[in-house]
Amino acid sequence: MRATPIPEFMLEPVFDAAGSGRDAIGASTVAGKGLNVRHGTILTLEDINVSFDGFKALTNLTLYIGVGELRCIIGPNGAGKTTMMDVITGKTRPDNGVAYFGETLDLTQMSEVEIAQSGIGRKFQKPTVFEALSVFENLELAQKTNKSVWASLRAKLTGEQQDRIDEVLQTIKLDASRQRPAGLLSHGQKQFLEIGMLLVQDPQLLLLDEPVAGMTDAETEFTAELFKSLARKHSLMVVEHDMGFVGSIADHVTVLHQGSVLAEGSLEQVQNDERVIEVYLGR
Ligand SMILES: Nc1ncnc2c1ncn2[C@@H]1O[C@H](COP(=O)(O)OP(=O)(O)O)[C@@H](O)[C@H]1O
Ligand SMILES: [Mg+2]
Repeated sequence: MRATPIPEFMLEPVFDAAGSGRDAIGASTVAGKGLNVRHGTILTLEDINVSFDGFKALTNLTLYIGVGELRCIIGPNGAGKTTMMDVITGKTRPDNGVAYFGETLDLTQMSEVEIAQSGIGRKFQKPTVFEALSVFENLELAQKTNKSVWASLRAKLTGEQQDRIDEVLQTIKLDASRQRPAGLLSHGQKQFLEIGMLLVQDPQLLLLDEPVAGMTDAETEFTAELFKSLARKHSLMVVEHDMGFVGSIADHVTVLHQGSVLAEGSLEQVQNDERVIEVYLGR
């Protein structure tokens, strides 16, 4: 066994996660892996500012995600949605502001790798599966590369890992294609495989940027079912323009505009908000 030191951020004590946090909605108390979510808030962003050569991509952005929540983020192109995900995953450092995962993990002080290992999984728009490898091998690889610390910590994990991959194959409906080279999958199936590659790492928070772009109607419907089945067990932040899709999954919607939150509420509430109609939905 490799003697990998356990990073300090992975050793947070487990606290009782009773109560819902601040204005985060849909908070349940499920959180694994010892993440401290005492107040039911899995993600805290407060007064985040990001500028690129003087251009402000995020301006005092404040947003909370509850444990187990399925949040949709909408807003016009250039609103800062992808930049927000870049801040959460450590790809972009904010000029100032507060970004916490759970109660104690300061995302602004962690590397991208540490953030991923602590339980935040991100799916980009373009699928990035290994085309020459089988579906199963893609899942195996995703699990190994991202769980090396845990893999070396737990002797029993090989069997558990195998079970988890089987479970994920069922979840993403690729069980029958487990030996197929990933390059032979449809665009939608590749997207599902990539979601599976996140799920084998058991992330507590999933960030999904425009997941149904380019999907068929049937694939979009399956994605909606999939995300709904993942919520509660995981927390999800989904950026999407497809309003039909958003309407079918979201309990709570945040509208971003010019780097700030313009409106927040149920889809019906934000769709009837005059400012949202003005800048995003059109008249
Ligand atoms: N690395 C960067 N350098 C300069 N400007 C950027 C960079 N990343 C994003 N931007 C700008 O920040 C704004 C927000 O972009 P983005 O977060 O991609 O918006 P969205 O995902 O909502 O469409 C845009 O005006 C974009 O051009
Ligand atoms: Mg974007």
